[in-house]
Amino acid sequence: MQHVRTRSGHVIGDGGIREAGTARPFLHVLADTSDKLSGVCSILEEKFTVAGERLDADSKLSQTPAAIVIRAELRDVDNIAAIKKRAGKLAKARKRIFLLEHTSHVCISQAYALGATLVLPSTVGRTRLLAALTDPADGVSAASGDTLQPDSAVEAAATAVASMFTAVTLCQPLDVNGTKEAGRQIADRITQHGLTEWLMTVRRHHEGTYQHCLLVTGITIDFGLSLGVGRADLERLYSAAMFHDIGKARIPLAILDKPGRLDAAERAQIETHPTAGYEFLKDHDGISREILDAVRHHHEYLDGSGYPDALCGESIGDIVRILTISDIFAALIEHRHYKPTMPRAEAYDVLCGMNGKLEKALVHSFKQVALTR
Ligand SMILES: [Fe+2]
Ligand SMILES: [Fe+2]
Repeated sequence: MQHVRTRSGHVIGDGGIREAGTARPFLHVLADTSDKLSGVCSILEEKFTVAGERLDADSKLSQTPAAIVIRAELRDVDNIAAIKKRAGKLAKARKRIFLLEHTSHVCISQAYALGATLVLPSTVGRTRLLAALTDPADGVSAASGDTLQPDSAVEAAATAVASMFTAVTLCQPLDVNGTKEAGRQIADRITQHGLTEWLMTVRRHHEGTYQHCLLVTGITIDFGLSLGVGRADLERLYSAAMFHDIGKARIPLAILDKPGRLDAAERAQIETHPTAGYEFLKDHDGISREILDAVRHHHEYLDGSGYPDALCGESIGDIVRILTISDIFAALIEHRHYKPTMPRAEAYDVLCGMNGKLEKALVHSFKQVALTR
């Protein structure tokens, strides 16, 4: 294979760095072609000590890196196999950024299933890539590289969400029990460590629809705990939350991740997701009537102004009411790279201003979840 000498003088491609590293954080770069490898390395060398190798080479990089950046075509099974072969090494890096050529749901799901902590399009700008690696909230620099272990609870939950979306995209049966189990683990985590820790961890590690699902599930669980619901109801709540946006797997990412306002046609397309999710789930064993109701109706409002069925008042069930409040709050406080994160107090004020749409007593009860828990 071709060796590439980086601008900082390190030889990459044969698995070793030939020069002692500096105090700068140490990164690995993996790529499926030499061009991609040298392209990514040349960006990262501005701020990091970098060693890289092609995925088709024998893995020789030995030093544990602070982060791994992988740029590869994930529709190629050989690349997937090569990344899987390096799974042990990947798991030791706290941050694993995948740069994807094709940002389809399948490729994104695949990246998360392979252990990505962040997935970005390969066209991502230099500034964004460096920010993802140097952002203090991401902890790569601050953690001196390899001292922090990957967060297995978040990884497991994210992988369950990724598998769920892949199943819809590929029209394959869903692992209903696996998804519910991931919800149960989130409930355990929040019971033990609280909601704030979950929100911070998820926002630090994930983007887009996966982040949203994980946040909504956590918030719904904490809302249920604060209301004192029993174990069976808590299971209904986290299951509904895990599945609620599954229909988004049918919506193009260009719409889902569009910065700024959607036009009328895009909005109409996004509003098909509750029905799409319902249609996909309705023939699955283990999906209860309440879950189906929540998936189909989590965008309905008490005043009849929601979609897809313009339900109002009493025809909207309790689980749906709790989920809808949690869903709106999660959407407001999400971390998106193109907009600042809204503070929790401000997001709660938005809920309070939605007169007639949400149940007033529930919004009032949600205050402690939103602000203090
Ligand atoms: Fe939704
Ligand atoms: Fe949602």
